[in-house]
Amino acid sequence: MSYRVPFNKPSLAGSEMSYMAEAVRSNHISGNGQFTERCQALLEQLLLARRVLLTPSGTHALELMALLLDVGPGDEVIVPSFTFVSTANAFVLRGARPVFADIRPDTLNLDETRLERLITPRTKVIVVVHYAGVGCEMDAILEIARRHGVAVVEDNAHGLFGAYKGKPLGTFGSLAALSFHETKNITCGEGGALIINDPQYIERAEIIREKGTDRTRFFRGEVDKYTWIDIGSSYVLSDLLAAFLYAQLEAREEIQRKRQRIWEYYAEHLKDWAEAHGVRLPHVPPHCQQSYHMFYLLMPSLAERQALIAHLKARGILSVFHYHPLHLSAMGRRFGGRPGQCPVTEEVSDRLLRLPFYNSLTEEDQAYVVAAIKEFDRWA
Ligand SMILES: Cc1ncc(COP(=O)(O)O)c(C=O)c1O
Repeated sequence: MSYRVPFNKPSLAGSEMSYMAEAVRSNHISGNGQFTERCQALLEQLLLARRVLLTPSGTHALELMALLLDVGPGDEVIVPSFTFVSTANAFVLRGARPVFADIRPDTLNLDETRLERLITPRTKVIVVVHYAGVGCEMDAILEIARRHGVAVVEDNAHGLFGAYKGKPLGTFGSLAALSFHETKNITCGEGGALIINDPQYIERAEIIREKGTDRTRFFRGEVDKYTWIDIGSSYVLSDLLAAFLYAQLEAREEIQRKRQRIWEYYAEHLKDWAEAHGVRLPHVPPHCQQSYHMFYLLMPSLAERQALIAHLKARGILSVFHYHPLHLSAMGRRFGGRPGQCPVTEEVSDRLLRLPFYNSLTEEDQAYVVAAIKEFDRWA
């Protein structure tokens, strides 16, 4: 079915095609070419990160993270239940047991006030997710982790260019993951990056992503041949995609401006309607600079959420729900997940609806979406 207003539409920022042609002309379309170097250097400079390595997806960045942290059987990894499967799966792949944390009812981020009770002597890592690009309460989380000697890493798939108390999201944990999937603010279709804030991980990350070899050192001229020296896999992004990504990164200010306008239009035009009907709009604490990644409505009930999705669909508008609680998934239940374990997650997951949000969304189409929402009358 095609929609007058789809949920997502990838859009070109300008130089994608010419940069991809340049990558082809330069005879280097595998990984670690000139565009990969440019993307990594730009991200390092913008985020003040020690090292950034492009990966084929956000999922791969999380997997690389789990390998670097030597997560294995017997370890517990705390993850919010309200997140994408990869946040947990990357660690489960290494044999760890996920421990599901509930979220705060306001920002929908991991609830730091209920974090400490989940820590056991087996806890190895706490993974935070900055939902919708609004920062988690990092001061409290880092303090708890420090007290227990547990690593903190960030799944920052939503939050590139967001900040918490003025510091960029993705620079709080020893490691952080970015996603450049086509639904993200900055995209190359499928892509991601590992942000390394703790320099002890840099050298091994370069080895693991190059199939366990010291090929990166060889290319830098530091060794005269490269060989197999550690476990590893292929976590390298093609330079063709890095060329696409570089064009998007160059256009970041314009992209972020557009997304801010879209977010503020929804917030302004839906405020009174939401208040009148008991619908909650996204909450951004004053100390958080959000990334303008998404706009959601928290409807009063599941029935009303489903009815609004159907109502918008009948008008050619695609709105979608988001994460199913991980602790209630078939896999989550194998790790002891049960109903009632994360009550806020369970309730929010039923009630949340995401509105169309993409860089080329016009004000005319947004006005159409807002008008359609205001026509909704199937309140419980
Ligand atoms: C919170 C979160 N983490 C990780 C990912 C995985 O990223 P990717 O699709 O680039 O593998 C996503 C989804 O895109 C996500 O929303």
